[in-house]
Amino acid sequence: MPSISVENISFSYGRGDVISSVSFCAEGAARIALLGSNGSGKSTLIKLIDGLLPLKRGDIKVNGCSVKDGDIRRIREKIGIVFQDPDSQFVSPVLEEDTAFGPENYDLPDIAERVRKSLELTGLYEARKRMPQTLSGGEKERAQLAGILASEPEIIMLDESFTMLDEEGRKEMRTLVDTIWKDSMVITITHSADEAISADRVILLSGGRIIADGTPETVLTDYKLLEEAGIKAPLAVRLRKALEERGFKLPPLLTAEELKEAIWNYH
Ligand SMILES: Nc1ncnc2c1ncn2[C@@H]1O[C@H](COP(=O)(O)OP(=O)(O)OP(=O)(O)O)[C@@H](O)[C@H]1O
Ligand SMILES: [Mg+2]
Repeated sequence: MPSISVENISFSYGRGDVISSVSFCAEGAARIALLGSNGSGKSTLIKLIDGLLPLKRGDIKVNGCSVKDGDIRRIREKIGIVFQDPDSQFVSPVLEEDTAFGPENYDLPDIAERVRKSLELTGLYEARKRMPQTLSGGEKERAQLAGILASEPEIIMLDESFTMLDEEGRKEMRTLVDTIWKDSMVITITHSADEAISADRVILLSGGRIIADGTPETVLTDYKLLEEAGIKAPLAVRLRKALEERGFKLPPLLTAEELKEAIWNYH
């Protein structure tokens, strides 16, 4: 079972801490949204977990392996990150070679089959001979996911991913992630409260600190907390509030679907 244990970590790029005394644990098939405004430290935090940035204070364990012990390779094998900037991540001039990079690096079996399946699932099989740099923005995001699918890590982190995909494509990739990582951990990094709704746990980051860690129902309806973090409440929560201010009494709710239901049943 995948597990992450972040133990009182702090980090600085040179001038002041951008991650301060952060701790959290997660295991199994958790669906976590890491929510925070621009510059709150989300990408830094996941890079620390993946051992891409050197940790000096605190410790991080992934499946029991400590980042401090320097067993970074074993940790990286467990984690797949779809990075915020897909352009900077391509390592090969041919898409199918790029997709094969992960499994080759970790000496995984059946590489050709893994690559074929990953490109098919992400709708890129026809584009397999193309240069990744020539793909469209949305296709690049799919290509990033294909590269991770090919190694099937136990933990996947999506850093503001699929923002360039159209609604249909985003839904498709989301469903794919939820299917492939059904029994594994998915961490979604976002600045959108609406995107965090579908998680089962929301970790709210502000100025490099965790200021809330709880269910979407508790974190995403707390205006004061969200304001402190510079995050807009979910649309349905804002609409509910506006209606309440005009005298409508509605039950607590989070999603557009719930709001529709509440208005429908209003009397
Ligand atoms: N390589 C770097 N060198 C110096 N400072 C950095 C570096 N990378 C990030 N920072 C700073 O660290 C802080 C946290 O940045 P980080 O990229 O982790 O934020 P983020 O929450 O991912 O933001 P965004 O939503 O814009 O992606 C910011 O103040 C940023 O300017
Ligand atoms: Mg970021």
